[in-house]
Amino acid sequence: MLLKSILSTAALAVSLCADNASAKHGPFAQKARDSLSRRAAQYPKAAPQNATGDFRFLTKDTKPYRVNSLPDVPFDIGEMYSGLVPIEEGDDSRGLFFVFQPKLGAPVDEITIWLNGGPGCSSLEGFFQENGRFLWQPGTFAPVENPYAWVNLTNVLWVEQPVGTGFSIGKPTATTQEETAADFVKFFKNFQDIFGIKNFTIYVTGESYAGRYVPYISAAMLDQKDKEYYDVKGALMYDPCIGQHDYVQQEAVAVPFVQQNANFFNFNASFMAQIEDLHQTCGFKDFIDEYLTFPPAGIQPQKSFNSMNNGPCDVANLITDAAYVSNSCFDVYEINLMCPLAWDVLAMPTAFDYLPKGARVYFDRPDVKRAMHAPANVTWSGCSQESVFVGTGGPEDEGETSANPIEHVLPQVIESTNRVLVSNADYDMIIITNGTLLSIQNMTWNGLLGFQSAPVTPINIDLPDLTWGPVFEHNGRAMQDGQGIMGVQHYERGLMWAETYQSGHMQPQYQPRVAYRHLQWVLGRVEKL
Ligand SMILES: *[C@@H]1O[C@H](CO)[C@@H](O)[C@H](O)[C@H]1NC(C)=O
Ligand SMILES: *[C@@H]1O[C@H](CO)[C@@H](O)[C@H](O)[C@H]1NC(C)=O
Ligand SMILES: *[C@@H]1O[C@H](CO)[C@@H](O)[C@H](O)[C@H]1NC(C)=O
Ligand SMILES: *[C@@H]1O[C@H](CO)[C@@H](O)[C@H](O)[C@H]1NC(C)=O
Ligand SMILES: *[C@@H]1O[C@H](CO)[C@@H](O)[C@H](O)[C@H]1NC(C)=O
Ligand SMILES: *[C@@H]1O[C@H](CO)[C@@H](O)[C@H](O)[C@H]1NC(C)=O
Ligand SMILES: *[C@@H]1O[C@H](CO)[C@@H](O)[C@H](O)[C@H]1NC(C)=O
Repeated sequence: MLLKSILSTAALAVSLCADNASAKHGPFAQKARDSLSRRAAQYPKAAPQNATGDFRFLTKDTKPYRVNSLPDVPFDIGEMYSGLVPIEEGDDSRGLFFVFQPKLGAPVDEITIWLNGGPGCSSLEGFFQENGRFLWQPGTFAPVENPYAWVNLTNVLWVEQPVGTGFSIGKPTATTQEETAADFVKFFKNFQDIFGIKNFTIYVTGESYAGRYVPYISAAMLDQKDKEYYDVKGALMYDPCIGQHDYVQQEAVAVPFVQQNANFFNFNASFMAQIEDLHQTCGFKDFIDEYLTFPPAGIQPQKSFNSMNNGPCDVANLITDAAYVSNSCFDVYEINLMCPLAWDVLAMPTAFDYLPKGARVYFDRPDVKRAMHAPANVTWSGCSQESVFVGTGGPEDEGETSANPIEHVLPQVIESTNRVLVSNADYDMIIITNGTLLSIQNMTWNGLLGFQSAPVTPINIDLPDLTWGPVFEHNGRAMQDGQGIMGVQHYERGLMWAETYQSGHMQPQYQPRVAYRHLQWVLGRVEKL
């Protein structure tokens, strides 16, 4: 369903993503050779940033990647790098595009990797609309500084992967997560060599379909058993495809989700009765009653996506179609969305790829590509139209055949780090909160199946309102005191679960303070959310 809905809207996209036609291009080849021809050992350990803002990672090897300014971003962007890094040293035909920004203020020897999902969606969405230092979010006039930027806490690396995504170049050939994770591991070593990085602690984070990327990539790094390059200490996943996402994370829990959010849907009584009936006759109610329990009743029987797809029990589809009747701007990624649609400078297909006549996609502008050292002749789009996995079938019918993360890799990452956070947002219908919890209840880690007790502990967000505070202060209201209770947390055996109130799918975009707190926990700066 995740891909299905992305593809159905992506068909309207203005542009096509990088493909094999762009396998060779000059700047990449040049940079790759320049930077990788010297070995990492030759790079001095970067000096700490000081009060004058000296750039910690700026060397002659990283200089070709330095971004001085960005079109339409009207302030000092600080230390920023972007460009292509090859997957295989010496092979110019396959490379991943990255943006790297070091932590503001006192330096840390850490890297947090951020990945968007899809498959095939660009992590520049995260960089420019979710957790980056400056944001140009849908419906806003110009970019603004993000007071909850993740670079306030750590060094952040946004990567467009796998091959076939965004500005990354090469011909997609992968049929498994293992293959794309192996590419990432190689890219990441090359990246660290270029930037003179060794012995940093690594945190892997992402959203949505990256619920598959994050644990597979983390596990592949851990398997290297190489602390100089792959010292993975934690992971974070938002609204993630960690289990059987069509049946468990969506269909089985869709009707109670509608009941709980009835005001957003405004369905009539006969339609409610119809879907409530399906909830029972299709077996969803029995499934939840049996397995969404603490501790869980047992291992959940296997469920297949294809039996659901557009069949009579595809209640999520029925609900979505009916939701459009009264709300023509209904969005499964944020059920609270109403018309008018906000113009999105990235035309992300998460909503409608809405690009008004005359508007341009930011990262596809020639001046932006030049500033970011992006390949000039790759057409950038938020999500690639061609599949980045080339297999057929597979458990999730998305061109790859790897096991769901809950089966092996996610338990491995939890057991190795004891610092993994899985979170889901309550206004998200593409991946539903209770569905993600239900997936966790079918996972065995650190010796037991699922959580042993139900999540009940509130998340109290006391971070001040740095965005609108002054406006409201002017009206005599105290907005500096934090948000209050914004979700529910639950920790057992190395895994932190976090339900987020009042948020759609892209959590750092809709609830930046909550996401900031999540990252603080993953980095080990706090012990509770
Ligand atoms: C893209 O540009 C490079 C030169 O920078 C060239 O080698 C390559 O053939 C071009 N690719 C396409 C698809 O035009
Ligand atoms: C910053 O570092 C540079 C080079 O190490 C040094 O010359 C300069 O005095 C430092 N500035 C401050 C304010 O510490
Ligand atoms: C993040 O850093 C900026 C710039 O130093 C600062 O203005 C802002 O208050 C910081 N945000 C948080 C949540 O600490
Ligand atoms: C990384 O850590 C190892 C083991 O502690 C040490 O031998 C090595 O010198 C370190 N490398 C750098 C570049 O700090
Ligand atoms: C989620 O499941 C809990 C039981 O764990 C239940 O109390 C709650 O009503 C469910 N919420 C929704 C939206 O289905
Ligand atoms: C539950 O986990 C088992 C064991 O990993 C797996 O075989 C089964 O397919 C899973 N069930 C669902 C519904 O995901
Ligand atoms: C109730 O809603 C459904 C779904 O939108 C619609 O097909 C049906 O005509 C409505 N029934 C009434 C009585 O309004």
